[in-house]
Amino acid sequence: MRAVMVGCGAMSNGWLKAIRETPALNERVDMVGFVDLDETAAKRQASEYGYTSAVTGSDLEAVIAEAKPDAVFDLVIPGARRKVAAQALNAGCHVLSEKPMANTLPEAKELLQIAQDAGKMHVIIQNRRHLPGIRRLKDVIESGAIGELTALHADFYIGAHFGGFREEMDHVLLLDMAIHTFDAARFLMPSEPVGVYCQETNPEGSWYKHGAAANALFDNADGSVFTYRGSWVAEGANTSWESSWRAIGTKGTALWDGSTDGLSANVTTSATDFMPAVEPVALPDPKTLPAEAHAGVILDFVEAVETGRTALTANTDNIKSLAMVFAAIDSAETGARVKLDI
Ligand SMILES: NC(=O)c1ccc[n+]([C@@H]2O[C@H](COP(=O)([O-])OP(=O)(O)OC[C@H]3O[C@@H](n4cnc5c(N)ncnc54)[C@H](O)[C@@H]3O)[C@@H](O)[C@H]2O)c1
Repeated sequence: MRAVMVGCGAMSNGWLKAIRETPALNERVDMVGFVDLDETAAKRQASEYGYTSAVTGSDLEAVIAEAKPDAVFDLVIPGARRKVAAQALNAGCHVLSEKPMANTLPEAKELLQIAQDAGKMHVIIQNRRHLPGIRRLKDVIESGAIGELTALHADFYIGAHFGGFREEMDHVLLLDMAIHTFDAARFLMPSEPVGVYCQETNPEGSWYKHGAAANALFDNADGSVFTYRGSWVAEGANTSWESSWRAIGTKGTALWDGSTDGLSANVTTSATDFMPAVEPVALPDPKTLPAEAHAGVILDFVEAVETGRTALTANTDNIKSLAMVFAAIDSAETGARVKLDI
C-alpha cells in the first residue's frame, strides 16, 4: 500500500512507530508522502523515519497528485477532518482517519456519503477494539456464560494534566475521550443504544475550562443499559485508559479492569438461595492478535483494502459511536433524554 500521511503532529509518531515495528505492516506499507500545514513537520517525520524519497508539502492535493497513493492516513485535528478526508476520498484514495470520525454528526454523515460515492473505504482509528483484553471479555459475553447481557457499566477516572487545547475546549471529556469508551461498549454489547440521559459537570478544582466529568445512561434497543461514569479530574485512584468494566448477565457478572489479564467472571450456583454461592466461569485463553492497538487498526485497514472486506472500524459502524457522543452532549445541554440520531 502506497500511503500519504496528513497531519504530522504528536500522534504521527505512534503511527510511524507502529508501522516500523510491526513486520506485517512494515513489509506492506510504503510511506510515499507527508503533509502538514507546517511543512517542516512533514519533512521532519519523513526524514526521522527514513522515508527519504517521500514527497513532502503543505498541500494535500498536490502531494497526492505527485505521490499517487492508494491510501491517505489522516491525523489532522478534528476541525480539519471533514475537508481533508473529503479531499482524499475525492482524489480516489482509501482513508484511515484518526478518531473522531468528524467534528459534528452532520459532517460525519457527509463523509459517509462522499466515501460511498467515491467507492472508497473510510476507516476510523478506534484502537481499543484491537486489544487482547477486550476481545476476551467479548468472548465471555458472546459465549453466554453469564447469560443474556442486561447491563454494561464503564468507569473512566483519570486525573490527566495534558495542558494545551484540551484544557480550553468545551465538552472535553465527552468529545475527546468518551468516543473510545462508547465505541468499546458498542463493540461488547449485542444491542445498539437508542437513547441517552447525560449530566456533564466541571467539578470544583477542575483545571479544564468545560465538561471534565460526565455521567451518562444509555438505553439499548433490547432493553439493556450501558452506563458511563467518567472524569478527567479524578485524582488519586486512576482506572486504566481502557476504563474499568462490569458486565451483568442473567446468570452472572464479568469484571474487566482494562488490562490484558484483568478479567474475571462468576455465576451463581443456585437460583433459590437468598445470597447464592458463586463459582468462577472458565475463561477463554488470552488472545494473541496479529497486531494490537494502533498497529491492529492499521493492519485491519490494509487487509480490508487488499481483500475488499469491511474493516472492523469502518465509517458505517463508527458513525453510530459518534452519534452516542453527540446525543450525550445534547442531553447534557437540554437536560432531557435524547434519541440517537442515526
Ligand atoms: N486514537 C488515539 O488514542 C488518539 C490519541 C491522541 C490523539 N488522537 C487524535 O489524533 C488526531 C491528531 O492529534 P495530535 O495529538 O497528533 O494533534 P497535533 O495538534 O499534535 O497534530 C495535528 C497536526 O495536524 C496538522 N494539521 C492541522 N490541520 C491540517 C490540515 N488541514 N492539513 C494538514 N495538516 C494539518 C497540524 O499542523 C499538526 O501538526 C486528533 O484527531 C486526535 O483526536 C487519537
